[in-house]
Parts: sequence; structure tokens; C-alpha cells
Amino acid sequence: MARTAPATFTAEHFRCFYDHADPLLRRLDRQAAKSRIPTVGPAMGKLLFVLARAARARRVLELGTSIGYSTIWLARSVAPSGGNVVSLEWDPKTAGEALRNMAEAGVSKYVKVETGDAKKWLEAHRRGPKFDLAFNDIDKEMYPPTRDPLVRLVRPGGRLVFDNTAFRSAGDFLKVSARHPDLETVHLHCFLPGHAPDLDAVTPCVKRGRAQASAGSLTQEQPPPSKAPAPRIRRRDVLSIRRQ
Ligand SMILES: C[S@@+](CC[C@H](N)C(=O)[O-])C[C@H]1O[C@@H](n2cnc3c(N)ncnc32)[C@H](O)[C@@H]1O
Repeated sequence: MARTAPATFTAEHFRCFYDHADPLLRRLDRQAAKSRIPTVGPAMGKLLFVLARAARARRVLELGTSIGYSTIWLARSVAPSGGNVVSLEWDPKTAGEALRNMAEAGVSKYVKVETGDAKKWLEAHRRGPKFDLAFNDIDKEMYPPTRDPLVRLVRPGGRLVFDNTAFRSAGDFLKVSARHPDLETVHLHCFLPGHAPDLDAVTPCVKRGRAQASAGSLTQEQPPPSKAPAPRIRRRDVLSIRRQ
């Protein structure tokens, strides 16, 4: 007899799709959940890995190291090509913990953690070499002021990824980024534990430039966005995820 899909999926149902084979990442996942450290988690970690590999990224910049969970995913994506990740964290104690975790993961030689404020770092390095991929995961109110300095540091055709872009604290980030003259952007409104799609999103982008010149700009050919207020997505309209 054909099996029918369950009416509602549990969070466990989704979690089982992600790779938990790595004991260190599994331990960091557990530690983050217990200590309420906001790491990206296995789905976003794998997404970063896949995007970096797809872009053949060798130089990666990360804003917001925390304990190094996402940094390990990024370092593993660039390791086979001998690339590297520069990761910025303003809390020295947290940066120290990240360095220990990276040593345990065997990726230290691919990562440089810099301690300090990301915005100041971006200003100080504005004329530095360009990156193939940048990932932003610092405090969300810093997304609007760090967006353009970050875009400038990515090569044409390079990728940018912003996490938690629908958080209220990210201000007008969604609206401005969707029409940014230098970016092809997609906001993926998604399910994270405790969030509905109207409350969270991940935003991957490609930086426009020579690499895309022959394809033209998709976004610029679109009609201007409607002035009507966006419809409110209600929680009961979307797939419900039962808390474990
Ligand atoms: C959400 S956590 C990053 C999680 C990490 N990407 C992961 O998945 O493992 C954000 C981190 O960014 C740091 N941070 C926040 N604002 C910052 C800033 N302006 N400059 C540098 N680091 C910042 C915080 O101390 C925190 O450790």
C-alpha cells in the first residue's frame, strides 16, 4: 500500500537530512543549543559549503566567527583548493574558543581569525585584495552599514551570503538589497527553529560585473516593486513544525 506523507512534519524529520557524521560539528551543535550560542546550524553550514564550492571560492571573508562553527564549514570548502578564510570576531574570548575548535577540526592552516569590529576592519581593508565569497553573520543592526563596504570587497561575479536577513533588527536590509545596483539577490525565507518565514531569511547574492556582462541584469529588467503593503504571512498558513 502506498505511504502517505504525514500531515505535519516534525523538526526531527528535517534534521535527519543533514550530515551529523562529524563528531566535532555534532558536539558544537549540542554546545550551541545548550549555551544558546547562535551558530548557523547544520543546514546553513552545508549551504555555505555548497555555495562556496559552486563558486570555486578560494578567498572567503566571514563577519562573525563566534565559536567557529560556520568557519569550519567554510574552511572545509576551500581546503582542497588551498584557499583560505579570514574571519572577524570582536570578542577575544570567543575568538580564542573558535581557534581551539578550528585546531580540533584540523583546519587552522586555512583560517585567520582577526579580533575587532567588522565595520572598522572593512574600512581599513577597503583597498585590499578582493574575496570570492563573503558571509555576514554579525549583529543584524550592523547589516545596513556593512553591506556596501562588504560588496566593494567582493570581486565581480563573487558571492555574498547574509544570514537572518528578515530579523527586525536588520532594518530595511531586505528591501534595499533586493534592488541593490551591484547585486543579484534572492531572499530565501526559511524555517529555522522558532522562526516563521516572515521572521527569518537567508540572502545569497551574486555581485554584478564583468563576469555577468553577457547575461545582462535580470533584476534591472523587472518592473519596480509594487507600493502596496506586503501581505502578512500568518503562521497557520505555513507548514507547522512541532516543537520537540
Ligand atoms: C551569530 S554569531 C556568529 C555565528 C557563527 N557565524 C557560526 O555560525 O558559528 C555572531 C558573532 O558576531 C560577533 N559580532 C557581532 N557584531 C560584531 C561586529 N560588529 N564585529 C565583529 N564581530 C561581531 C559576536 O560576538 C558573535 O560571536
